[in-house]
Amino acid sequence: MNPDNLVKRLTDLDSNDRYSHSEPDLVCVKHLDLDLTVLFDQRILTGTVDLTLDRWFCGDLVLDTRNLTIHSAEYSVDRQEFRQAPFELGNYNPILGAALRIRIPKKSIVVRVRYSTTPEASGLQWLEPTQTAGGQQPFLYTQSEATHARSWIPLQDTPRVRATYNAFIRRPKNLRALMSACNNPAAYCDADLRFSMPYPIPSYLLALAVGDLVWRELSERTGVFSERPVIERAARELSDLEKMVRTAETLFGPYRWNRFDVLVLPPSFPIGGMENPCLTFTTPTILTGDKSLSSLIVHELAHSWSSNLVNNATWRHVWLNEGLTVYMERRIVEKMYGTRRAEIETVLGFRQLETIFSKVPPGSQILADLHGDDPNAGFSEVPYEKGALFLRTIEQSVGRHRFDAWLRGYLNHFAFRSITTSQFIDYLETNLLLQDPKETGRIDVDEWLHAPGIPKIAALPAVDALSALEEQAERWVSGELSTKDLRPSQWSTEEWLHFLSWIGPQIDTQKMAGLDSAFHLTDSSNAEIESQWLLMAIRNKYEPALLRLPNFLTTVGRRKFLRSLYGALVNTPEDKQWALNIYKSARDLYHPITRSAIENILGRDSLSVAKT
Ligand code: BES
Ligand code: ZN
Repeated sequence: MNPDNLVKRLTDLDSNDRYSHSEPDLVCVKHLDLDLTVLFDQRILTGTVDLTLDRWFCGDLVLDTRNLTIHSAEYSVDRQEFRQAPFELGNYNPILGAALRIRIPKKSIVVRVRYSTTPEASGLQWLEPTQTAGGQQPFLYTQSEATHARSWIPLQDTPRVRATYNAFIRRPKNLRALMSACNNPAAYCDADLRFSMPYPIPSYLLALAVGDLVWRELSERTGVFSERPVIERAARELSDLEKMVRTAETLFGPYRWNRFDVLVLPPSFPIGGMENPCLTFTTPTILTGDKSLSSLIVHELAHSWSSNLVNNATWRHVWLNEGLTVYMERRIVEKMYGTRRAEIETVLGFRQLETIFSKVPPGSQILADLHGDDPNAGFSEVPYEKGALFLRTIEQSVGRHRFDAWLRGYLNHFAFRSITTSQFIDYLETNLLLQDPKETGRIDVDEWLHAPGIPKIAALPAVDALSALEEQAERWVSGELSTKDLRPSQWSTEEWLHFLSWIGPQIDTQKMAGLDSAFHLTDSSNAEIESQWLLMAIRNKYEPALLRLPNFLTTVGRRKFLRSLYGALVNTPEDKQWALNIYKSARDLYHPITRSAIENILGRDSLSVAKT
């Protein structure tokens, strides 16, 4: 290896997390005991967290916080008696929050912090009854990844640190509380207040939801939670959960988290899915009635191996979480739904990567270059797709059989640990690539990690997975094919999306009307298809669909859709004014992280003008 590369590798070795104030090299928190009360009327959580340290410690224990009110800090050397500890809350930084410094004497083993959250907590969303499907009860849920756990618990909020936790949640008796822990789904909710996560997890996997929730069993270890009015649809859509877990187990080894339940959240949930251990959180926009968006659940399930077991030590290494997960997701999809569907997903992912690299100047790499920006806004598709392509390339080079055996070994070796890219690469080289020098020559690890764009040798997807569809699209645009010659009843959601994005720039309102009357796209109940259609409607000023736009923007809170729709609305002053007005009325529905993304698009200046 040349010395330049060595220097680069050493930089990767750096597991310093610039998004956390904590100092885990001095002392690590290894266990949390939470006792929290949920106060819906004040929109706060209040209570205590006991942080157990991994060894005797004296000096300053530094924790991350964001918008927390700290009432007191105490320490104990024996877990029996607690004494006051002096503490200080540092200056607030919009990305990092404020450091909480607690001075603790010799032999401290546990630190207790009494605190309350504030209504501004970036990781909590409080919904009024009117914002839920049931309409009767309020709802609360958390989203901790990437750095929002600190807005509801003072802790070492870095993915480098893993801890176990127990929690005691006090909430209105008629509401159910759930956590990213071993929920007992059959327990009557009055008794169901204690939670325990016996495996060490990073802070971004801490999760809580409270609402009028019911549960439906799908198999002995899988099930679905949702609000009452949604449960039937949710149970039908997710009826393959057990099959998904089994398929994943045949590929990657036993499922280690005991239960796999899915919680379908109200529409404001800002992201598609979140891999909270034991209890994946998901957007209700996956409920299309035809299981066509099940890859998203497969993705979150795959995280149970690829990152909940072995995760990125800092957000710079997020490709270890997401790239591996996308790779594994497609392996599960292939086994469950066939090669064609997996290959289509690979092609679409590859195209996304090409588009990004054609816009962003060289320098965009597999390692996230976050430039000090907020990591919550900063993850592009590159760590997902370039990461997955890297693993696919290795797999094809060494052969599936050897790769799978290596992957299982990797997961076992690092189980319940946080690692950096260098640790991954060392394990890869020692246990796979260097076993056969011929192959090492073919995989240029340094090029994959450090060179911009797509490496010369990459296991590119078979283009023909979509080329027939593209040809059809072209012939339809040119009028050679009539609308009734298209065969969309056989198209998957992915094929629909690809067709629409292919024809999008080339058609006019008349062509849109033709498609609409044949396939009722304006009335689609598939949010992926609908948002793509609405995007085309904005660009082409297609009125019938534009009439649906306010409804979509004020009922769906998923950031991915809203980003592209608001993004398309800032191109003309009239559209932008319209978007500002809609945003004002929809803002309360949106989650804090969605709001921040939309406010970036609309411009905070325009918003303050619009407010007056
Ligand atoms: N872990 C991510 C969600 C996430 C990433 C939250 C970064 C906060 C910061 C999750 O597994 C994910 O990638 N979700 C995707 C869907 C997936 C199918 C690509 C999403 O929500 O869009
Ligand atoms: Zn993911």
